[in-house]
Amino acid sequence: MKTNIEKKYYTKNDIKDFLLNTDNNSQKNLFREALLTKIRTTGNKVYLRGLIEASNICSKNCYYCGIRRSNQNTERYILCESDIINAAVYAWKNNFGSVVIQTGERNDRGFSIFIENILHEINQKTNSELGITLSCGEQSEETYKRWFNQGAIRYLLRIESSDEKLYYKLHPKDDKHSFKNRLKCLEILKKLGYQTGTGVMIGLPFQTIDNLVDDLFFFMEYDMDMIGMGPYIEHQDTPLSKYKNVLIPESERYKLSLRMIASLRMLMPDINIASTTALETLNPGGRISALNAGANVFMPNLTPETNAKAYNIYRNKPFLNGKIIENINSINTQLSKLGQEIGYSEQGNSMHYKKR
Ligand code: 5AD
Ligand code: SF4
Repeated sequence: MKTNIEKKYYTKNDIKDFLLNTDNNSQKNLFREALLTKIRTTGNKVYLRGLIEASNICSKNCYYCGIRRSNQNTERYILCESDIINAAVYAWKNNFGSVVIQTGERNDRGFSIFIENILHEINQKTNSELGITLSCGEQSEETYKRWFNQGAIRYLLRIESSDEKLYYKLHPKDDKHSFKNRLKCLEILKKLGYQTGTGVMIGLPFQTIDNLVDDLFFFMEYDMDMIGMGPYIEHQDTPLSKYKNVLIPESERYKLSLRMIASLRMLMPDINIASTTALETLNPGGRISALNAGANVFMPNLTPETNAKAYNIYRNKPFLNGKIIENINSINTQLSKLGQEIGYSEQGNSMHYKKR
C-alpha cells in the first residue's frame, strides 16, 4: 500500500520536509514508513557488530573529538594483539556475525603492520567467518589494499560533514585534515572492493537543515553501502565546545538524528544503517528507537571497560557493566514487538554492495 510519504524518488525538498517535521504524528508516520521500507528491502534482521576500540592514540586534531592529539586529559592506550583477537573470538563464539575494529588515526608503518597481523590472526581463529570492518581513518591506498588482502571486508570513514566550509569549521585547515583527501579515500575504498561506509554528526554548531539534506544526498551520490551517523555531543576538552550555547537542545538533536536515519532509509532503502551509541547517550533506549526507525545494525561495545572509558570521544558514553549478552537478548525481545529479530551469526553484508 502506498502511503502519502512513500515515493520512488525523493527531492531535496521532500527530505527537508521530513527533517523539519517535528509534529509527533508526522514523525511517527515517518518512522513507521522507514521501518516498513527496511523490512521490505533488507528484511527483518538486525545485525550485530561487536565494537572493539583498539586504540585511542590519534595523530589528528579534530575540533570536536575528545581523543584529539592535543587533549592531554585523556590517558592513551593501545590494546595488545591478544586482547583484540580475544574480543573478536568472543564475538564469534557468541554468534555476532561481525566486528568493527576502531582506532584513532595513525599513519606509521608499525601501525599498518599491527592491524595487518590482527586481521590475519582473527581470520585464522574464526574460520574467516566474522565480517571484519575497519574504522582507522585516512590511509594510503597501499595500506588499505594490504588490510583488504588480509580479510577486512568493510571500511568506515565518516565525512563528518559533506559541506567543505563546515568541514573546515570542524577541522584545522591543513594537510592532515584535508577534505579532498577524505573524499579521495572514500573513492579508493570503493575501488578496492570494500563495502564502504561514511556518515556525519548531527546538530553541530553552524550546521543548517540544508547541510543535513545535502549530507543525505551526498551519501547517495557517493553510492555508499553503509552509514553511521549520530548526534554531536560536545566534549569539554575540545575547542568546539565553546559553541555549546548555540546548539539545538539535546532532545531535539536526538529526534533530528532519528529523522535523519528514517529519511535516509526512504532515500537509500537497501543500505546498512547503524544505530549509533551517541543516540543512547542522549536518550536511554535511543538505539532501539533508531532500529524502529530504519536502522538495521547494532554495535555492542566489546572493548574491555577500563579502555572503553578512555575512548571518550564525547561525554557520558554508556556502559553495560559486563552484561553484554543479557543486553542483546533483551534487545531481541524488544525488537520482536515490531516484527524484527537479531540476525545471530550472520555477517549482514550490505545488500546495496551486492548490487553495486
Ligand atoms: N560527538 C559525537 N560524535 C563524535 N565523534 C567524534 N567526536 C564526537 C562528538 N563530540 C564521532 C565522529 C568520528 C567517530 C569516531 O566519532 O563522527 O568519526
Ligand atoms: Fe582522531 Fe577520529 Fe577523533 Fe579526529 S575524530 S581526533 S581522527 S579519533
